[in-house]
Amino acid sequence: MTSTISQTAAPVRMPAFDYTPRPYHGPSRAEVLAARRAHANPALFTLYREPLMIVEGKMQYLFDETGRRYLDLFAGIVTVSCGHSHPHVVAKVREQVETLQHATTLYLHPNMPALAEKLASKMPKGLDVTYFVNSGSEANDLAITMARLYTGYTDVIALRNAYHGGSSSAMGLTSHHTWKFPVMQGTNVHHALSPDPYRSPFEGSPDEIARRSAEDIGELIRYSTPGRVAAFIAEPIQGVGGVTHGAPNYFREAYRIVREHGGLCIADEVQTGFGRTGAHYWGFQNFDVVPDIVTMAKGFGNGVPLAAVTTRREIAEKLADRLHFNTFGGNPVSMAAGLAVMEVIEKEGLQENARVLGGRLRQGLRLLQSRHPLIGDVRGMGLMLGVELVTDRATRTPATAATLEVLEAAREMGVLIGKGGLAGNVLRLKPPMCITADDVDFGLDVLDRALTRAAGA
Ligand SMILES: Cc1ncc(COP(=O)(O)O)c(C=O)c1O
Repeated sequence: MTSTISQTAAPVRMPAFDYTPRPYHGPSRAEVLAARRAHANPALFTLYREPLMIVEGKMQYLFDETGRRYLDLFAGIVTVSCGHSHPHVVAKVREQVETLQHATTLYLHPNMPALAEKLASKMPKGLDVTYFVNSGSEANDLAITMARLYTGYTDVIALRNAYHGGSSSAMGLTSHHTWKFPVMQGTNVHHALSPDPYRSPFEGSPDEIARRSAEDIGELIRYSTPGRVAAFIAEPIQGVGGVTHGAPNYFREAYRIVREHGGLCIADEVQTGFGRTGAHYWGFQNFDVVPDIVTMAKGFGNGVPLAAVTTRREIAEKLADRLHFNTFGGNPVSMAAGLAVMEVIEKEGLQENARVLGGRLRQGLRLLQSRHPLIGDVRGMGLMLGVELVTDRATRTPATAATLEVLEAAREMGVLIGKGGLAGNVLRLKPPMCITADDVDFGLDVLDRALTRAAGA
């Protein structure tokens, strides 16, 4: 299968889509912007020079207040796994909202254990006990607490360039100065070198870089901790960091070293879970390792706040030593959403779609790389792909301004793309997994033109 990238200057045409958005009668874009500026916390930022207002979504498409359609290649920051307002997810959520919205886990309800059981069926044997929360940050906080309780140690190893959340303890795990405030945050966290071969300080093959990066964990433990650690937490593919990952040997070696020093291994599957990487349901499976704790969020709820921590019973039991409670954790509506999402991923073959169309998109991106000197690196798996833009391939200087130009140009042509990396120079392509081959080809065509425009800007 080959993707087609137009070499002509003919106008780009979005694939046909048999859907008419509802007429929008709400406040104008200017009014919404003014209200937001007046009353929302100024820390909230928007992506484009002229903020885009989105009022409706259907599968892989979003609509602005004028009814203009956009191909969504960022999925609400990798959160819309099945498609915007997917009919099955909507029906199940609506049914649950109309029946019982909330009672808490103080009472029995079938949805929560049903979803926990469903997750266990997707996990490696032994990872069969789940605690539900509402966000990825909360899930990572809880995972670290459990690891500390279970091991009796405090120190945690995370990776440089990681993003694990913005709550004060998750901020300590995150490793970008841009996301860290000068306040107290998760302590006793040490950041080991990322195995990403594109920006590693080590030289050699990706395998050698992976091995030496894993060895850095051992050094960090010996020099910066009491010699024993509670946990190692890592994203199988770093998302916010710009879709970076190491060679296949990295996690095997990293997990071995961490376990030799008493630590548990935590896989942060907030972006990589639920089939997005194509070949496997969980990102860690691409690296042939079995974590002790798995955290998940985002695509799990397809837009409904839903996150979880799955682990082995003996680790989970440590949380029973004190009272622990989460008001919305296990909420019947979010549980209904999670069950519906997992059903859709299975029934509609979305993991396979991520594999096949991710391959098509990646192949097209490589072709673009051969024609656009701006593209320094193309990487990722399935429908979790990154394109790193550089001003000079030899020095790998981040092309931060050009990345913004590409985003703006693509938006003008009807395609929404994400951005990541510490320098903000990585295009993130992580669409809803229901995307079609025509969408992929259209997205590539638009990207081709946007890159040309950005290079000439
Ligand atoms: C890998 C990863 N972990 C954790 C989080 C935090 O999730 P949340 O924003 O739901 O707290 C994110 C959010 O982007 C993430 O990408």
